[in-house]
Amino acid sequence: MSKAKKIGILTGGGDCPGLNAVIRAVVKRAVSRLGWEVYGIRDAFNGLLSSPIRVESLNRDSVRGILTRGGTILGTTNRGDPFHFPLQSPDGTVTYHDRSGELVEALRILEIEGLIVIGGDGTMKIADRLMREKGIKVVGVPKTIDNDIAATDVTFGFNTAVEVATDAIDRLHSTAESHDRVMVVEVMGRDCGWIALHSGIAGGADVILIPEIPYDIKVICDKVRRRQAAGRRFSIVVVAEGAKPKGQDASFIDKKPKSGMPRLGGAAQRVAEGIAHETGMETRVTVLGHLLRGGGPSGYDRLLATRYGSAAVGLVKKGSWGRMVALRGTQVKSVPIGEAIHDQKKVDPSDEVVETAQEMGIEFGG
Ligand code: F6P
Repeated sequence: MSKAKKIGILTGGGDCPGLNAVIRAVVKRAVSRLGWEVYGIRDAFNGLLSSPIRVESLNRDSVRGILTRGGTILGTTNRGDPFHFPLQSPDGTVTYHDRSGELVEALRILEIEGLIVIGGDGTMKIADRLMREKGIKVVGVPKTIDNDIAATDVTFGFNTAVEVATDAIDRLHSTAESHDRVMVVEVMGRDCGWIALHSGIAGGADVILIPEIPYDIKVICDKVRRRQAAGRRFSIVVVAEGAKPKGQDASFIDKKPKSGMPRLGGAAQRVAEGIAHETGMETRVTVLGHLLRGGGPSGYDRLLATRYGSAAVGLVKKGSWGRMVALRGTQVKSVPIGEAIHDQKKVDPSDEVVETAQEMGIEFGG
């Protein structure tokens, strides 16, 4: 009897709602329908570099009930690039090592033919390099609440983040109105304003600030004052964490961390202080942060994640390694991973959605 096909699956980078739904879909189609073996690798690529190796065979029972659960049953990290792997010595010094060869060896020992890699741009870059330089077979599934991967119209996780942010903005409305305050709410999104743009429109914000349209604080204050003059004594300002004043840098907690990506933070505080200074109005800041990433996925994201997971198995079945599933219009298709990692999808300031917001009287501060 021929041996069952064996594949690995891992989640890399920051978590986002819908990861478990992808894992479930992969296992349901690959194990239950096709009779393959699926190995879940712990904590992104790190599970293959640990001693002992941390992988587990996944079956129908392992994924029962996880469609609705947030996070990832496999764990994840954004500090595990096998080509640039951080190792800490007892004195706390961190040095970086190329451990990609160990990863190849681990897959050979486990007899895993290839990997389904669920991740954002960072994880896809690693997957692409593993494929080109080490000959590892990979299929990619794009995830991120930021929705900034150009090759796909939508990443799962984004819709949930927008829903959570919209709900928060709704809640801030009533308290803003009661106290005649300017409520400034910060949402994630790194250097793209998708979450701020969509939740801001859906939540009826008065001002939306996104990295793609640097703002002038005076323009924002004029909007707040115009509202006051019209008897609307409160305002809601939605700020993407990467938003910045014209000619200035974004706000960072740590611009050059020892490892990982620069950490954004403080954008809303900066705007709130500017408004309070210019208008004398009372301002309050709410930073939604990781609330946008936690909890279960929306119905939309459960569906998209399930379609992505099933399509990823379909690519493996056809032997179409090196591709990433992607939503194009209404259909799930696939694109070469190499192509997918090149462009970040930013908000186009002349986009129809931005125009719609402007027609609704929303100020972008530009
Ligand atoms: O990329 C997803 C994201 O949530 C960004 O929106 C945010 O800037 C970043 O990750 C936060 O990363 P961490 O979880 O490492 O703080």
